[in-house]
Amino acid sequence: MPPSKKVTVRDILAKKQNRIPITMLTAYDYPSARIVDSAGVDIILVGDSLGMVVLGYTTTLPVTMDDMIHHVKAVTRIKPRAFVVADMPYGSFHISPEETVRNGIRFIQECGADAVKIEGGRERLHIIERLLEAEIPVMGHLGLTPQSYLKIGGFVRPKSDEECEKILADARALEQAGVFSLVLECIPSDWAKILQEELSIPTIGIGAGPHCDGQVLVFHDLVGLTPGTPPPFAPRLVNGYDLFLKACQDFVQAVSSNTFDQLIASEQQNQEKKGEPYGNYP
Ligand code: KIV
Repeated sequence: MPPSKKVTVRDILAKKQNRIPITMLTAYDYPSARIVDSAGVDIILVGDSLGMVVLGYTTTLPVTMDDMIHHVKAVTRIKPRAFVVADMPYGSFHISPEETVRNGIRFIQECGADAVKIEGGRERLHIIERLLEAEIPVMGHLGLTPQSYLKIGGFVRPKSDEECEKILADARALEQAGVFSLVLECIPSDWAKILQEELSIPTIGIGAGPHCDGQVLVFHDLVGLTPGTPPPFAPRLVNGYDLFLKACQDFVQAVSSNTFDQLIASEQQNQEKKGEPYGNYP
């Protein structure tokens, strides 16, 4: 049974100090937030991956502030115990520091988020500093940065020592500026180990091997709802697509064969056996 006290930045930093692994999953709406929070994750990330796994885009670039606001609000409506991080989408921090801070404040004030995440290294330092000055906790994101898709020409993972040296220098600068944690996406495992050892802030990996202080996964990858093939580093622990498909097929079959009332009766019996009143919405 997960503890019920709200997770704070201090709890997340303490986990690194005490060598307790940090858990982070994405969620984008009320039901997925309820599931991941009930599972006891430390952090819920409302990632801009929502563009790809929920909204049907091929990259994260079309995701807007309005999209993010809509989804962060749905997640915080569950009043999660987990710490909620809102992803700053493409375009929300590229125009001016003033607009970046305004967008960050919207996530805190309008949506009830606890922090924001921002992709990029030293080139983003001036805006990260402004967010921190506005008392907004910031999570960094280095390595494969999906918002650089057009500039780099794809979802390209850094591999060379030269690229990884740059990531290490970026990470040191972000830590120095005051970010409270760092997502490391798809960097070589040996380099993730170096970063984990060098930094005093927690590193949270995705496709970066086992040495980070925590791991993050996209909810839809984990539960088998990702459109297309999930990335090789993401274990699919249940095939949600097939489970949901079967339920919908059973519905179609029952209605088409005039046996829908039997479906309701059998569900009613199942619920009664479990001692749950039928139709009891939480
Ligand atoms: O948007 C997202 O879900 C992310 C995670 C992959 C870290 O940035």
